[in-house]
Amino acid sequence: MTASSAGGGDGARRLSGPDLAGHRVIITGAASGIGAATALLLRDLGAEVVTVDRVADGVDLEADVTDPEAVRRAFDEAAVRLGGITGVFNNAGVGNLKPLHTYSDTEFDRIVRVNLHGTFHGIRAAVPLLEAGGGGSIVNMASMSGVRPTRNEGPYSAAKAAVIALSQSAALEYGPTIRVNCVSPGFIRTPLTMMVADDPSMEAELRAGTPAGRIGRPTEVASVVAFLLSDAASYITGQNLVIDGGASLPSKQTDDVLRRLGG
Ligand code: NAI
Repeated sequence: MTASSAGGGDGARRLSGPDLAGHRVIITGAASGIGAATALLLRDLGAEVVTVDRVADGVDLEADVTDPEAVRRAFDEAAVRLGGITGVFNNAGVGNLKPLHTYSDTEFDRIVRVNLHGTFHGIRAAVPLLEAGGGGSIVNMASMSGVRPTRNEGPYSAAKAAVIALSQSAALEYGPTIRVNCVSPGFIRTPLTMMVADDPSMEAELRAGTPAGRIGRPTEVASVVAFLLSDAASYITGQNLVIDGGASLPSKQTDDVLRRLGG
């Protein structure tokens, strides 16, 4: 199936994707960036989607993923609205860039809570809902930083590495009823990475350090998430798909940018 889709400042693009008719999906962190682009694409591909975010900015339900009860309420409400769910994309996340010894306990805790605990809360709320419908697919948002830890992103890299392990552990526990995978994007142009993507010299360095020759687009993550949620990925579970244009391969340029950003 072909779908026209735009999202996250991505411009109008035509993307192919699996037929998601009959799929009913919850997406967290869907007010912006990759989450918003994924909601657009999934709907284009025929899925019904309930979007969730901490900010009520054009999303269906408001919930902070660090609040377990809020997540449970939002997921239960989404399942009622959709008549049951077939998939969840635990996407909400936050990051920061500075040397590890300068993080306060509060900052460190916040990054781990949103990225790791938020994913746990999403999985925990999703499992009974998916099991009630006979099964489904969970996709969690990790990061290239969780695969190849980067300087100045200590808590973020650690939390995203833990998201990969958590996803694999969940895949072992909930198969064959529920498939659990994660995605690890590299640099994708969203509000989270604006300070890099909009600085011409840093952007040029990143391009030079990326075999694909450019920063990624939100739709290029969305299309992989659509695949993992779909029946086309029916034999894939416990995997981490890296979507980084090759940027996690060692490169001096990427390392230099991250060193500079941390001050
Ligand atoms: P973004 O900042 O555009 O979107 C993040 C969304 O998550 C926002 O709508 C925000 O309101 C929401 N959010 C933040 N904290 C939340 C909370 N506690 N509860 C509920 N919602 C919350 O950023 P982007 O780039 O779209 O990021 C989405 C995910 O992708 C994040 O998990 C991020 O770590 C991950 N990622 C992004 C990469 C990039 O280069 N943009 C690379 C690798 C991973």
